[in-house]
Amino acid sequence: MTANHDFYIGLMTGTSLDGVDAALVDFSGGQPRLHAAVALPLGEQLRALLMQLQARSEDELHLAHMAGNTLADLYAEAVSRLLVQSHLTTADIKAIGNHGQTVRHRPEVGYTVQLGNHARLAELTGITVVGDFRSRDIAAGGQGAPLVPAFHQAIFGHTGEPCVIANIGGIANITILDQSGSIIGFDTGPGNVLMDMWTLQHRGEHYDAGGAWAAQGHLQADLLQAMLSEPYFALLPPKSTGRDLFHGEWLRRQLTSYSHAPQDVQATLSALTARTLADAIRAHAPHATSVYLCGGGAHNLHLQQQLRQWLPSQRVETTAALGVDPDWVEAYAFAWLAWRCLARQPANLPEVTGAHGPRILGAIWPA
Ligand SMILES: Nc1ncnc2c1ncn2[C@@H]1O[C@H](COP(=O)(O)OP(=O)(O)OP(=O)(O)O)[C@@H](O)[C@H]1O
Ligand SMILES: [Mg+2]
Repeated sequence: MTANHDFYIGLMTGTSLDGVDAALVDFSGGQPRLHAAVALPLGEQLRALLMQLQARSEDELHLAHMAGNTLADLYAEAVSRLLVQSHLTTADIKAIGNHGQTVRHRPEVGYTVQLGNHARLAELTGITVVGDFRSRDIAAGGQGAPLVPAFHQAIFGHTGEPCVIANIGGIANITILDQSGSIIGFDTGPGNVLMDMWTLQHRGEHYDAGGAWAAQGHLQADLLQAMLSEPYFALLPPKSTGRDLFHGEWLRRQLTSYSHAPQDVQATLSALTARTLADAIRAHAPHATSVYLCGGGAHNLHLQQQLRQWLPSQRVETTAALGVDPDWVEAYAFAWLAWRCLARQPANLPEVTGAHGPRILGAIWPA
């Protein structure tokens, strides 16, 4: 037993459906510290089922619960590997913060669904599980997303410079941190989700490593302009989005009147992510001096280059420059959210989500 530590585990399975990220975080002492992390792939069968569940399908209630069970087994495996790697036992962990897998995000009608059988995870691990972080914020009139801005403020809010944290997962979201202490945060639109779909369709791969394929293509200004007319981009925050809007059909609709080469479409999809991020940053954070990237998209060098082009007066780096590996920021955030829940502290930012007030987020499945 490690008496001088206060360990929590954060689990994230994001919109990209690439895998589960698990982070071990120590909350003892002044500032939380990321101790260790592991990632496990979802596996093709589970990935296909979760993809199917993104839209209505036959017997979806049963299939969703079966997917939730399989996810819980995978989460338990990730926790077990993290414990072995860190030479810890279940008794050392206060709680697991489990995001779950989003299959519907419909705050406008009052609900969001993250799959993952929390009871089963508590049973399999013998560790308290905190889950369903988004529902309370939605019940309080909010978007239920993004939830990471309060965490970004806690971890990155002491840089002494006005800056932006940009998480490029399936969907991209930004948090604007400035000296005044006021925070703006919202989903800017697609991160990797459309690029991933196009890469799978034309290359049979799950993503465009480094953005190398996009770099071979040419940005098509007419297509980019057409895609930028999507009304979501012009909405003022609070706003959040997901595969509910940016799905295969959305992409097909955009492409019906164009016949560009596949690599040119990829270059343009990459530009769409970069441009919508840059537009949001220019509009809401004109005084920010740096933009720190995290999430899988931080590895996309072509996307980084496009961002630099559209943000000539800002430094574009990854959160590694702030001492946190960009791959683990989201999982880290869910350890923090579990810690806040057990401490009975609110974790949403009403100015970000649009909720009526601060709320304690999450439901608890005791060990
Ligand atoms: N080396 C790389 N080059 C380019 N893109 C990458 C690379 N590695 C990962 N990615 C992209 O990042 C995606 C995964 O990112 P991440 O796990 O942050 O997103 P996520 O699971 O959707 O999380 P969330 O929705 O919570 O932000 C992959 O699907 C891929 O598109
Ligand atoms: Mg992921």
